[in-house]
Amino acid sequence: MRIGIIVYSQTGNTLSVAEKLKQRLVAAGHSTEIEQVTVVGGRKAGGRNFQLDTRPDAAQYEALVFGSAVEAFSLSPVLATYLRGIGSLDGKRIACLVTQFFPYRWMGGNRAIRQMHKLCKSKGATMRGTAVVNWSKFRRAKTTVRAIDRLTQALA
Ligand SMILES: Cc1cc2nc3c(=O)[nH]c(=O)nc-3n(C[C@H](O)[C@H](O)[C@H](O)COP(=O)(O)O)c2cc1C
Repeated sequence: MRIGIIVYSQTGNTLSVAEKLKQRLVAAGHSTEIEQVTVVGGRKAGGRNFQLDTRPDAAQYEALVFGSAVEAFSLSPVLATYLRGIGSLDGKRIACLVTQFFPYRWMGGNRAIRQMHKLCKSKGATMRGTAVVNWSKFRRAKTTVRAIDRLTQALA
């Protein structure tokens, strides 16, 4: 299966989980690419004034994982803007990943996932799986392993 992992990752946390997920999916025999959403001229932390630069083409993939950070208890506005602007996701296998600093998913992760879910649904997608990675040190390793398992199963 041709899988795209499309992430917006300002400080590299979500990207590093995406790279581990890619390794797993490639080992399982899938053609997998990571593509990054970027903004023109960079962006200050939490900034709401930005212009999208790179907008990966989701149409070329049979399955997609969208990933980004939690910002202020919500989905990063950069990934939200990107998702609002893409075309139909009808018929594709979709899964979502968020990373957050705080240790529990109710501290922003759940809400960000709900927002992603709604945006993907508005494009005709059925969400097959979601995962939250908690970046605080004592939860990072465990939640990363769990996320990669969940997302791999969701796309199988
Ligand atoms: C402006 C801003 C707001 C944030 N708000 C939250 C939050 O509400 N809850 C949380 O758990 N982490 C929050 N974080 C932490 C990020 O979600 C976390 O560091 C994430 O892993 C960053 O991912 P990235 O490196 O892929 O951008 C925030 C970070 C920034 C910069």
